[in-house]
Formats: sequence, structure tokens, C-alpha cells
Amino acid sequence: MEKELKNLIEKWEGRRGNLIMIFHEIQNRYGYVPRDISLKLSEILDVPLARIYEVLTFYNYFNLNKPGKHTISICMGTACYLKGAGEVLKEFREILNINEGETTQDGNFSLVTVRCLGCCGIAPAVTVNGKVYGKVDKAQVADILSEYTESRDRVNEKT
Ligand code: FES
Repeated sequence: MEKELKNLIEKWEGRRGNLIMIFHEIQNRYGYVPRDISLKLSEILDVPLARIYEVLTFYNYFNLNKPGKHTISICMGTACYLKGAGEVLKEFREILNINEGETTQDGNFSLVTVRCLGCCGIAPAVTVNGKVYGKVDKAQVADILSEYTESRDRVNEKT
């Protein structure tokens, strides 16, 4: 990992926004920015870990937690919000027993909110692993989840 990090640092050395670009590459590779990599980066660059996290947490884009097997993105943009995305989000939260930005303990689902999925005409919109669901009603939430679990009973298990 250290060699890989050093290569990344070399690649972006002296370029504007290099720390951000390094984080982008790390997240593309792992799906998030693992803490042990942030620690290593802090050591190699001689940048305090607090500064690293200041940058990471400034941008909503970076995940600090390992994502679940399936990522559910609930659009909370204006069109979706006005069409009831809040209720849909609430239903996902209740069934999965997690909040936005969290992953179920079994690692199966992560729940995130996004600003606009670019399909406002079918608001409220939700994606699961990039698959788009439009005009989602809270009554459909359990059915959507059951597509990604072995049985609906497992979804209803509190994690
Ligand atoms: S506001 Fe939700 S898809 Fe655009």
C-alpha cells in the first residue's frame, strides 16, 4: 500500500489540488477513503491527520466509511423533495434501521442522499447501484429492497 501511495503522490506532486486528486483515486479504488490510508498519507506527506480529515469532510463526495454491497441513493433535490422524497427516505431509514451516510451492519446496504439524479421528470427518484427507480412511493420501498436480498424477511431484520 505504501508504494502505491507514494506512486500516487508522485503522480500528483506539484499539481494544483493534488491532495483532492489523490483522495479521488483512493476512493475510486476502494469505494471510500480508509482511515489507515489517510494515516499513511499523513505520515508520508507530513501533513497532520486533522488537516487530511478537514479536507475530506469539507467535500460531501468523499466516503469515510466502507460502502455496503448495495448503495441506495435517494434524491432530495427540489423536484423529488416536492414529490415526497422525504417520506421515501424515511421508509428506507426505518426498514434498514440506518440513517443517511450509514451502512447496515451486515454490510448489504448503504443509504445516501443526493441532490439531483438528473431524472426530475420521474420524481421522486431513487437509484440502487445505479439502477433508477422513478415515481417511487413509500409503499414500494420494501419491494425495491427485496430485489437485493434473499427474502423480504431478511430486510426486515433489524441490523
Ligand atoms: S431533483 Fe431528483 S432527479 Fe432531479
